[in-house]
Amino acid sequence: MSGITEKKTEEYIYSLLPRRDAVLREMERYAARHDVPIIGPACGRLLYQLARLIRARRVFEMGSAIGYSTIWLARAVGPGGTVYYTDSDPANARRAESYFRRVGVLDRVQVMTGEALKSLESTEGEFDLIFNDVDKIYYPTVFNLAVPRLRVGGLFITDNVLRRGLVARPAAVQDRTTRAIQRFNRMLYRSPQLFTTILPLRDGFAVCEKISQ
Ligand SMILES: C[S@@+](CC[C@H](N)C(=O)[O-])C[C@H]1O[C@@H](n2cnc3c(N)ncnc32)[C@H](O)[C@@H]1O
Repeated sequence: MSGITEKKTEEYIYSLLPRRDAVLREMERYAARHDVPIIGPACGRLLYQLARLIRARRVFEMGSAIGYSTIWLARAVGPGGTVYYTDSDPANARRAESYFRRVGVLDRVQVMTGEALKSLESTEGEFDLIFNDVDKIYYPTVFNLAVPRLRVGGLFITDNVLRRGLVARPAAVQDRTTRAIQRFNRMLYRSPQLFTTILPLRDGFAVCEKISQ
């Protein structure tokens, strides 16, 4: 629970969600026990739905941790599609790979370990969807790197853009993370290349359609 939406309302949204398969449920339990900040099932479904709506085939994910959001995306692109998984932690990548194998999507996930911004730069071609969930301090830099790499009609999606509501108040000079997100959100809405909506789901999900080159 993020505190963005009233607790009862948020619990209601989660109570409506259909039961996930055994592996996703195991990942949700692992994340809760080990404090892995995964997007959870409500945002997972949204990612899946948006990726399917635009018929995404080539997806780049920045900050994949144990691969929970990756699995929602990999299911959305279907057989023959590709999702690039990126994370700086090799232990996360090894755990993620074992989940990908178990749910049968390993053949459509490219696992890249290391700095996600560098991995994006070193991967050629355009993407239908880029999902950004790296350290928040990098968000303005990610904006500059990711938007040029999307096709027109593609989606740039970012998690945690409301940061438990902190973005709605003036941030202290030393709170570089909140300030980076505030700057990023202004960049999203001011960009003539993007059409942006922030959804107050969980910790805030920014959904941007690339509308011009
Ligand atoms: C919020 S978690 C990702 C959760 C994942 N998207 C999900 O919902 O299942 C962020 C992950 O990004 C990784 N990370 C953060 N900054 C990174 C960077 N600059 N390059 C690569 N990985 C990064 C961290 O190791 C962490 O595992």
